[in-house]
Amino acid sequence: MIEVRQLVKNHGDLRVLDGVSLSVRCGEVATVMGPSGGGKSTLLRCIDGLETFHDGEVEVDGVRLHPGAPRREMSDTLRALRRRVGFVFQQFHLFPHMTVLDNVLAGPLYVLSRARDEVEPEARQLLERVGLAEKLNAHPENLSGGQQQRVAIARALAMKPDAILFDEPTSALDPRMAAEVISVITDLAESGQTMIVVTHAMGFARNVSHTVHVMHAGRVAESGPPEQIFENPQQEVTRLFLAQTRAN
Ligand SMILES: Nc1ncnc2c1ncn2[C@@H]1O[C@H](COP(=O)(O)OP(=O)(O)O)[C@@H](O)[C@H]1O
Ligand SMILES: [Mg+2]
Repeated sequence: MIEVRQLVKNHGDLRVLDGVSLSVRCGEVATVMGPSGGGKSTLLRCIDGLETFHDGEVEVDGVRLHPGAPRREMSDTLRALRRRVGFVFQQFHLFPHMTVLDNVLAGPLYVLSRARDEVEPEARQLLERVGLAEKLNAHPENLSGGQQQRVAIARALAMKPDAILFDEPTSALDPRMAAEVISVITDLAESGQTMIVVTHAMGFARNVSHTVHVMHAGRVAESGPPEQIFENPQQEVTRLFLAQTRAN
């Protein structure tokens, strides 16, 4: 469903992505781990078309992004892509002036132009699924971080995306709230939702994901099933990263 081929991205003189290739099948849960600054966020942002890149290609369910596409073609492509891919950020990024329910409804109503009486029951159901049925009319500022992140997940799901990209969804949360959010993401993973999750949550990477990719210095240093990565890592980069993470 997602194919990244030889992706290259520079920021000035800095090569942030240095030929990243990665593929994610339909229903696959892929975890991306690795030291800070390795290019994980940049990779996700390129896949969702939030950032441009200099070489290589991204393909999501037949929609292709490549550098140098004409602007008009590009905006159609981006629109098609955003309908297929949901994004959940570390810092939630909810609409602060809207209620929880309106945050979840906004995409289906204004981006997909669907009818309110059709989408509202779906939105309520999604909020129930993430354990927030009581908070429909609350504003984000009155929710905990964990609750806000669960709203962000419901908001992503409301678009019925083919795939969801999570960028360190629990890094801004204390351990208890992080566990609530991981539990929601685990439910989604088990329901067959295709996803890429950038995370340092080792339990999730090990027990829930199908594939783990270790990124370092703009490259995928190692990819494999969790058993390989955690028990029999093939690359020094992976061994070092795991040793450092376990020491913390
Ligand atoms: N807008 C930017 N301008 C300049 N450098 C950037 C920008 N965004 C990211 N970088 C650099 O790109 C590298 C990769 O960043 P990032 O993708 O955020 O890594 P990660 O998510 O793995 O921590 C880092 O060295 C970072 O400083
Ligand atoms: Mg990051």
